[in-house]
Amino acid sequence: MSIPNKSDHVRPTIKNILVIGRGGRENALAWGLSKSKGVEKVLVAPGNGGTESIANCLCLDVAETNVEAINQNCKLHDIDLVVIGAEGPLSEGLADKLRQKGIIVFGPGKDGAQLEASKEWAKKLMNEEGIPTAKHWAVKNTEEAIAIIEKFNTPLVVKVDGLAGGKGVAIPENIDSTIKAVEDAFLGKFGIAGERVILEEMLSGPEVSIFALCDGNEMVILPPAQDHKRLKEGDQGPNTGGMGAYAPAPLIDDNELQKIKDLILIPTLKGLKNRGIDYRGVIYAGLMLTNEGPKVIEFNCRFGDPECQTLIPLLGIELAEVLQACALGQLKNSPKLSIRKECSACVVAAAEGYPEAPRKGDSIKINLELDPNISIQLFHAGTERNKSNQLLTSGGRVFSLVTQGASFDQAFAIAYESMKKIEFKGINYRRDIGYQVRKTISLESD
Ligand code: AMP
Ligand code: GLY
Repeated sequence: MSIPNKSDHVRPTIKNILVIGRGGRENALAWGLSKSKGVEKVLVAPGNGGTESIANCLCLDVAETNVEAINQNCKLHDIDLVVIGAEGPLSEGLADKLRQKGIIVFGPGKDGAQLEASKEWAKKLMNEEGIPTAKHWAVKNTEEAIAIIEKFNTPLVVKVDGLAGGKGVAIPENIDSTIKAVEDAFLGKFGIAGERVILEEMLSGPEVSIFALCDGNEMVILPPAQDHKRLKEGDQGPNTGGMGAYAPAPLIDDNELQKIKDLILIPTLKGLKNRGIDYRGVIYAGLMLTNEGPKVIEFNCRFGDPECQTLIPLLGIELAEVLQACALGQLKNSPKLSIRKECSACVVAAAEGYPEAPRKGDSIKINLELDPNISIQLFHAGTERNKSNQLLTSGGRVFSLVTQGASFDQAFAIAYESMKKIEFKGINYRRDIGYQVRKTISLESD
């Protein structure tokens, strides 16, 4: 779909912003946007228990996919920009539906969101554009899968095609468990019933998340971030949405980042454009740095969570204008996004039972006083307030505690000291987030 550009050089003033979503990512976006130049008010639909603790931020009691209610509230509150946080509404075409109503939206349309919603579609684009990625085979039944597994005689990664909330991937250790994973995938045990299952060459190397803010033609790249997907210390246990992150990841210097831009991000945006897709939002490339160079593990069509919480405090007051410029297809006229040269650390506090069956409804005590001289942000995710305004847990990942310092050791020391001041029953967090960049790690429980 082609989106009309507002006349060049004229960007409307930006006072009121609506963020769509309820997680830690959207809490961080609201916080960063509320501090941006010229912004007076940020609404978050539906938001969470921490939204209204941020100055000039308010929750809007509207579901993420209720187009009519979102549209009415955009008019009522004079919204200048809508920022869509999560992949679900993007892949259902929320951005298209709002644009049709004349609303300025940061986030790709349904066409562009296929980059995340269909692994097969994304693979096809990568192969046609020469973007490095793992080899893959799409199969329609277990027999087809066994033929491929036997031909290569090695374990293969098994994925379902579609949004599976982080549960759609198995990394088997041997051939038998590869076949079992294929059977499970066809039986719907990966969160969705896979009509087609994808087998992938097993890559190895450190992983890094790269974010490009795109306006359809141009892009701004954020500092590389590293996520920690596994639940337990030492990268053990089940995959989660992400238990912590840090940025900038020193394993990619400016030179490497430029190479990744040339090799992966620019060809992806060009590939989208060649398919008639005017992509105005985030391209999130999940990369593996293999011996043969960086390869794409997955694309997502939105900010990472918790990488977003880690990155936003590093970004300057131009953030709202830059996202608006992306939404308008005018990045070349936008102010430069300034980036603080500090180390940012993020530790996620999850509820007991996360990711399978998180406990909910426990009361939360926060004894953390936010000292203005220390850069600490407590971003809420799975929290809500009851009728008496008491803060309760309401989801798997409850908080992201984010701090910045001159070194990663300093930033993580403050994060872990601060974490002791947050209490809820069954609180669970990894003590080794950022082990790649820290000199000292204590795994002792408090
Ligand atoms: P995805 O949902 O595709 O991001 O995969 C989740 C996680 O599975 C990734 O962050 C990787 O750690 C791992 N993974 C996915 N694909 C591969 C692959 N081809 N080779 C090795 N690990 C992979
Ligand atoms: N942190 C991984 C993701 O947002 O998909």
